[in-house]
Amino acid sequence: MGGSRVASAMSKMHPIRHLTIRKTSPKDIDTWVQLRHALWPHYSQRYLRKELQQLRARGKYESLLAIIDKEPVGFVEFQKRLHAQGTIESPVLYIEGLYVCKKYRRLGIAQRLVDQVKKIAKAEGIKILASDAMLENKISQRAHKGFGFKETHRLVHFLMKL
Ligand SMILES: CC(C)(COP(=O)(O)OP(=O)(O)OC[C@H]1O[C@@H](n2cnc3c(N)ncnc32)[C@H](O)[C@@H]1OP(=O)(O)O)[C@@H](O)C(=O)NCCC(=O)NCCS
Repeated sequence: MGGSRVASAMSKMHPIRHLTIRKTSPKDIDTWVQLRHALWPHYSQRYLRKELQQLRARGKYESLLAIIDKEPVGFVEFQKRLHAQGTIESPVLYIEGLYVCKKYRRLGIAQRLVDQVKKIAKAEGIKILASDAMLENKISQRAHKGFGFKETHRLVHFLMKL
């Protein structure tokens, strides 16, 4: 009995119960940039802000925030792409970035963000959700499989200055 009271009190405190997922608005750009910087710390906030401005100027480039008690704890950013490796479907909705703060990991927050992106894709008649992960990022790969993604290709990217 005592144990079940403790379990019930703990489930009431479970952070995911206080989780809100919502689209970012122009007011959230600073928060979005900070979360991008947490995900890609090897780029400066200045660079990531400029990149975001460019991406948004080019077309619809969106994100969702995960918020617990007014604290942003994660985000996902995504856009339509005409092509993704492993499918001839076009367009696809492509997850360009996904991040959850360390202390809130393994609580299903990324799963909730991805579920929401799936809903957005379906509402727009898009049949494929695509994403990628760095070869060395095993956790991201496991998480993608956990979300229900199937691996398609492993690529090496190249650039040439012209
Ligand atoms: C990858 C990341 C977004 C996952 O976020 P998360 O909120 O912890 O993920 P979830 O709790 O929703 O996990 C969903 C499923 O993914 C899998 N998974 C997630 N993290 C995992 C880990 N560390 N080890 C093994 N499997 C994992 C599991 O199947 C999990 O389901 P389960 O907990 O019921 O077993 C988070 O670890 C992160 O932000 N990492 C750093 C940034 C990054 O690598 N982003 C992805 C590349 S863009």
